[in-house]
Amino acid sequence: MKMWDGRFSKGTDALMEAFNNSLPFDMALIEEDICGSVAWANALEKAGVFGAAERERVVSGLKSILDDHRNGRIEFLNSDEDIHMAVERLLVERVGEAGERLHTGRSRNDQVITDTRLYAKKALSAVAGSLVELQRAVVGRAKSDLGVIAPGYTHLQQAQPILLSHYWMSLFSILEREKSRVAHAAASADILPLGSGAIAGSGFPVDRGAIAAELGFSSVSANSIDMVASRDFILESLSAFASVGIHLSRYAEDLIIWSSKEFAFVELDDAWSTGSSMMPQKKNPDSLELIRGKSGRLIGNYVRMATTLKGLGLAYFKDLQEDKEPLFDSVRNIEMVINVFARVIETLTIRKDKIRQDLDPFLLATDMADYLVRKGMPFRQAHKAIGRLVGYCVEADVKLTDVPLEKLREFSEMFGDDVSTLYSWEQAVNARTIAGGTGTDSVRAQIEMAEKLLNNDRF
Ligand code: ARG
Repeated sequence: MKMWDGRFSKGTDALMEAFNNSLPFDMALIEEDICGSVAWANALEKAGVFGAAERERVVSGLKSILDDHRNGRIEFLNSDEDIHMAVERLLVERVGEAGERLHTGRSRNDQVITDTRLYAKKALSAVAGSLVELQRAVVGRAKSDLGVIAPGYTHLQQAQPILLSHYWMSLFSILEREKSRVAHAAASADILPLGSGAIAGSGFPVDRGAIAAELGFSSVSANSIDMVASRDFILESLSAFASVGIHLSRYAEDLIIWSSKEFAFVELDDAWSTGSSMMPQKKNPDSLELIRGKSGRLIGNYVRMATTLKGLGLAYFKDLQEDKEPLFDSVRNIEMVINVFARVIETLTIRKDKIRQDLDPFLLATDMADYLVRKGMPFRQAHKAIGRLVGYCVEADVKLTDVPLEKLREFSEMFGDDVSTLYSWEQAVNARTIAGGTGTDSVRAQIEMAEKLLNNDRF
C-alpha cells in the first residue's frame, strides 16, 4: 500500500521499489523533516486548517517519533519510500486521522528541499567553524616557526628564501576566501521553500513568514517554481567543499614531499602516520595522502550534481533525488579533511637544521641582480650578468657566495665590497618587508591581522 496508489491498478515492481527508494540515505534528514512538519502543523492551525487539538496531537506525535529516533527505537519498513513517507506513516500509526491531515497544502517537492536546506545550513555552519579552527592551527604554526628560513620553491626548484611562517600564512589567506565561499553557499540555502507546494504554491493561506521564523530561515522564496526546481545552493556548497579539498590537497602534497627522506624538512607525528604491513621501517604520511585523495571525491561530488542538473527542465523531476548522496558524502568528508589537516600541522615537527642546511646560495641570485640595479644597471642587464655568474659557478663548482670580488667584477664593474652584506638569509628575507612580502615585519603584520580576524569571528 502506497500513500499515492489510488490511481494505480497494480503494485510497484520490487526492483522498481528498490530503485526508487531513497530511505537508506535520506533518513539522515529525519530531524529536519520532523522540525519542518512541526512548523507546517503550526502554520496549518493558524490558517484554520487544523483545530488546536489536532495540531497538539500531530506535534506530540512528531516529537515522539523524534524521541524514538534519538533512542534508536524507530523501525522503518521496506515499503517506506523515503524519509518523508516514513515519518508520515509513523505519525498516522500514532495519531490516526490528524496525521492524515498534515500533508494538506504541502508536497514532498517543497518538503524535501526544506529539509535539505535546513541540513545544508547546519552543515555549512559546522564547516565554517572547522575552517576557523584550522586557521587557528595555521596561525599557531606560523607563530612557533617564526625565524625559520626555508627555500621557497617555484617549479619545485629553489627560488628565493622565505620565512616558513610566510608559507603557513599563505594558507590562512586562502582559508579566508574559503570561508566566504562557504558563507555564500549558506546564504543561498537560507530561503524557506515551504508553501511552494508541488509547483504552483500552496492552496492554503499559511503564514510563510512565521514558518520561516520558526525554522530559522532569513527569507521566504519569491517563486514556487524556482524553489522546488533549484539546487543551486547544493552546487555552491559542493563547489566550496571541492575548493577546500583542492587547496588542502596542494598543501598536503608539499608536506608529503617535505616529509620524504630526501627533503626531511618535516616529520609527521606518529599519531597521524601509518606503517607498512611488509616493510618494518616505513612511516607513511597517510593522513596527508588521504587529504589529497579525498579532493578527488569532493570534486567528483560537485560534478555529479552539476551533471544531474544540466539539461533538467523545471520544475521537480525524480533526478533531483540524486542531490542528497553527494551532499551528505562531501559534508562528512570535508569535515574530516579539515580536522585531520589541522591536527597534522599542529603536531608536525620542523627539522630546522635540515632546512637551513639545504638553503642553496643561488637563492640569493635575485638579490644580487637587485644589488646591481640599485647601483644603476637596468634590470635586464643585471639579470643577464648574474645569469652568467651563476653559469660560471655551476661550471666551476663554486658557491655563489664564495666567488671573490675580483672574479665578481669580471661579470660587472659595479660589484663592490658591500656585496657581502647580501650574503645572509636574514637580510634576503628582510629585504622584503613590503606589505604581503616574506620579511619578518610583514609576516608579523599578517599574523597580527589574522589574530584580529579570528577574534572577531563568530565561531
Ligand atoms: N525522495 C524524494 C527526493 O528526494 C522526495 C520528493 C519526491 N517528490 C515526488 N514528486 N516524487 O527528491
